[in-house]
Amino acid sequence: MASLPLSSTVAISNISSLFRPHQPRLSPPPRRLTISCNGTNSAESQHGKVDRRNLLLGMGGLYGATNIILPGDALASPIPAPDLAKCTRGTNLNLRQPLDVDCCPPFSENAVDYKLPAATEIRVRPAAHLADKDFIAKYEKATELMKALPADDPRNFMQQANVHCAYCNLTYDQGGADPSNKLQIHFSWLFFPWHRWYLYFYERILAKLIDDPTFALPYWNWDNPKGMAMPSMFVKENSSLFNPRRNQAHLPLVNLPPLADLRFSKKSSTAPDKIVPSNLTEMYSEMVRSAVNLEDFYGAKYDLGAKPDPGAGTVERGSHTAIHAWVGDPNSPAGEDMGNFYSTGRDPLFFCHHANVDRMWSVWRDLRGSKPKEFSDPDWLDTSFLFYDENAQLVRVKVRDTVENLKMGYTFQKVEIPWLNKRPKARVRKSKVAAMSSAPKATDTSVFPVKLDKVVRVLVDRPKRKRSKNEKEKEEELLVIEGIEVDTSEFVRFEVFVNDEDDDPSDVIDLAEYAGGYSQVPHKNAGNVKSKIRVGLTELLEDLDVEDDDKILVSLVPRDGGEDITIGGVKIIYV
Ligand code: C2O
Repeated sequence: MASLPLSSTVAISNISSLFRPHQPRLSPPPRRLTISCNGTNSAESQHGKVDRRNLLLGMGGLYGATNIILPGDALASPIPAPDLAKCTRGTNLNLRQPLDVDCCPPFSENAVDYKLPAATEIRVRPAAHLADKDFIAKYEKATELMKALPADDPRNFMQQANVHCAYCNLTYDQGGADPSNKLQIHFSWLFFPWHRWYLYFYERILAKLIDDPTFALPYWNWDNPKGMAMPSMFVKENSSLFNPRRNQAHLPLVNLPPLADLRFSKKSSTAPDKIVPSNLTEMYSEMVRSAVNLEDFYGAKYDLGAKPDPGAGTVERGSHTAIHAWVGDPNSPAGEDMGNFYSTGRDPLFFCHHANVDRMWSVWRDLRGSKPKEFSDPDWLDTSFLFYDENAQLVRVKVRDTVENLKMGYTFQKVEIPWLNKRPKARVRKSKVAAMSSAPKATDTSVFPVKLDKVVRVLVDRPKRKRSKNEKEKEEELLVIEGIEVDTSEFVRFEVFVNDEDDDPSDVIDLAEYAGGYSQVPHKNAGNVKSKIRVGLTELLEDLDVEDDDKILVSLVPRDGGEDITIGGVKIIYV
């Protein structure tokens, strides 16, 4: 790989060549050309209610939606920028006690609406494992300068770390009628856009400190075997990028550095020689197979009045969470730094990790062809956040400005995407597995809710069979796992397999039966929140050759903290 054009710019017209050709499965014709106004593209709305604004617009569009005031919160609306004056101390979500730090930012009354500067020069974020000495030196220098800023400067490193804590540890009011309903930007459709803004300003602050407008954050290329080890620039002890609070067994200090396990669990990790195929299968599942509809990739709708944790998207609950847990120090009280939301921003490696999460968003969009790449729902587009920019000015930003990284003035160094062609192979023909199984039906009232302290197997009816190609293009078949309740102060993980009867299906890492996983960085639920996930079945059932079967055998396999996971039900829907 040639060295990076760090001091030059990349012409925008060349950017499309940064990505490899589309994977055929995602090529047109599109499954959906239009998306519903609630933007979730979902028959199952998060709120189970009709969006009145859509009705009003349907009445000839006579009324400007924003001018209509209806009683209650029946008229959904976007979450406004938080009120800094109401920021309170957060909660240490693992230790269930008040935080020993105050993560509220310096107060300012003068927030201005942020305008994206014209992107004349495009910053190129390098893959960390390919970054050269000059780049590393600049990055170290910039981070050192950031750490040396006065403690109360909002651009100071610790202040920047606290930005993550403030938005994730329930310190801000959400902005609705109920002041006890706190803002949580994880586990929902705000995950990608919020983190994109967070990195955007962090990167601009670093660039300004070294007076280099081309400076761009490196990304940890964990979806590529060549980049799966922890990037070595972060483990030099005298470097500003160093952090002692990491899992010492995962440092790249040996000739054959350990590779990050994207299906990491603390109790049953993947065998070292299986990590690459396991990781590629995981990425294929998160980015292609289980990410057909917008909601499944981005996460579920979360608007004003909604409770936190409506449901995380595939990447957030998969590879993203795995890296947090894999890096965090198991010997520190709450998995600090990377393994816990309040502390994760204190590790410079966080930003390198999230630069790749951010890249996954761009790669996924590029794979969409003519399918919708983002929600058109104003409740998403107009959600606002506050950040301090590189001039220490408090700015109000919106989700709508995040959808295209090029408009934000940056792109990613081009690398291979080895998971693109990793559609898994079934081991054997899987027809009749379900027919022969003695597992109970998912509709048996005695089955759910069930604790996942062991593998749970159920038979799930498929309302539609023998779907035509056309029907499959129009509607994705999804397995919904709902009513998920977990001890949110713990790291938990479970996985979902279809028509697999092995005693431990989690041994099976690169096969068609793997439908997806659920894992989370510890956090706090507000009240009795139940989450759900959806995993894509259309392609999986093709691969298992069971499209004509009237039921499937679903295995829910706990990998970590199963005794703290309860599942409320399992069903199939078509969206
Ligand atoms: Cu905001 Cu990866 O966490």
